Amino acid sequence: LMAEKGGFRHFMLKEIFEQPRAVQDTMAGRLLEEEGNVYLEDLGLTDAEMAGFSRICIVACGTSWHAGLVGKFLLEELCRISVEVDIASEFRYRNPVVSSGTLLLAISQSGETADTLAAVREAHGKGAKAIAICNVVDSSIAREADGVVYTHAGLEIGVASTKAFVTQLVAISLFALRFGRATGAISRERGIELTSSLLHLPAFIEEALQLDTAVESIARRYHNSSDFLYLGRGYSYPIALEGALKLKEISYIHAEGYPAGEMKHGPIALIDENMPVVMLVLRDRHYEKVVSNMEEVIARGGRVIALCSAGDSETAQKAEAVLELPSCAEIVAPIILSIPLQLLAYHVSVLKGNDVDQPRNLAKSVTVE
Ligand code: G6P
Repeated sequence: LMAEKGGFRHFMLKEIFEQPRAVQDTMAGRLLEEEGNVYLEDLGLTDAEMAGFSRICIVACGTSWHAGLVGKFLLEELCRISVEVDIASEFRYRNPVVSSGTLLLAISQSGETADTLAAVREAHGKGAKAIAICNVVDSSIAREADGVVYTHAGLEIGVASTKAFVTQLVAISLFALRFGRATGAISRERGIELTSSLLHLPAFIEEALQLDTAVESIARRYHNSSDFLYLGRGYSYPIALEGALKLKEISYIHAEGYPAGEMKHGPIALIDENMPVVMLVLRDRHYEKVVSNMEEVIARGGRVIALCSAGDSETAQKAEAVLELPSCAEIVAPIILSIPLQLLAYHVSVLKGNDVDQPRNLAKSVTVE
């Protein structure tokens, strides 16, 4: 069994360390560097069709829904198209406003989640096209959609999704690049920049994985806490949600993710000297705002674990614990942030003696309602 796990103690840890390779597989044969474009073999949409959509609706469940939230950020930013993100079980029962000008984007690792499949059928029933981002080839959602972008992450065994999530983010980036080039929202020059940022991704993930020992000691220090708060802004907000979900799923510690700017409207009441607060504070357009949120947490005795950009000594001095991440382009930053959060959840779960790969009450794929 150890051999199956490639020498790792758990499938989850193996899958976390496989990520440089997994993202390479997602991109393999797809990046057209000189044209600043992407080739997606099974997309099933012409450039003219893409230019005809006025709106994109992303639907998914669980971790895939978090990938969808990052997708909204990327698609709106790069393609200037309005994007809604919905939980599939909400979308399917709401009589959503969908027409032929709407493109449905269904995200599902397994391609078998009942609610997400029903959302595809709902969209089809209303005359919309549906594209799927799936990991499992020939799965139900992949087959029913009009086109598919496979993530090619390989088999994911750990119930808590890691490499499937990260490759979903890559697949969405590829889709956004292709879409924006087709509609004219992304120029060739910008496309070249974006493809080159994506090509650097595996090396950045390798670098982030080197934080493993540092993350383990943070896990030792905080694993007895009964609640965690995760805060981020912009594309870091869905990563905060995903970090909290990962911890919940495998450590059984109550964890909440929140947009940092919304903290003062509720979660701030929870902060005291027992509350670890994971703050995603990269040097991006939100930096100053997140730093001031961090100061508010510290002023209330909160114990800040900061994920910041390499060399950010200001943040490093203020926080109780720090993890420095390589500086990278915005399009790949959500991925780099995800790595230490996966490792944190993993090590806390191991310290608690939990079944990391098969957490209680959870299923890898929810094929019934
Ligand atoms: C289950 C899994 C999650 C997953 C979700 C959606 O809850 O435990 O890891 O994110 O289903 O699954 P899908 O296969 O549609 O991405």
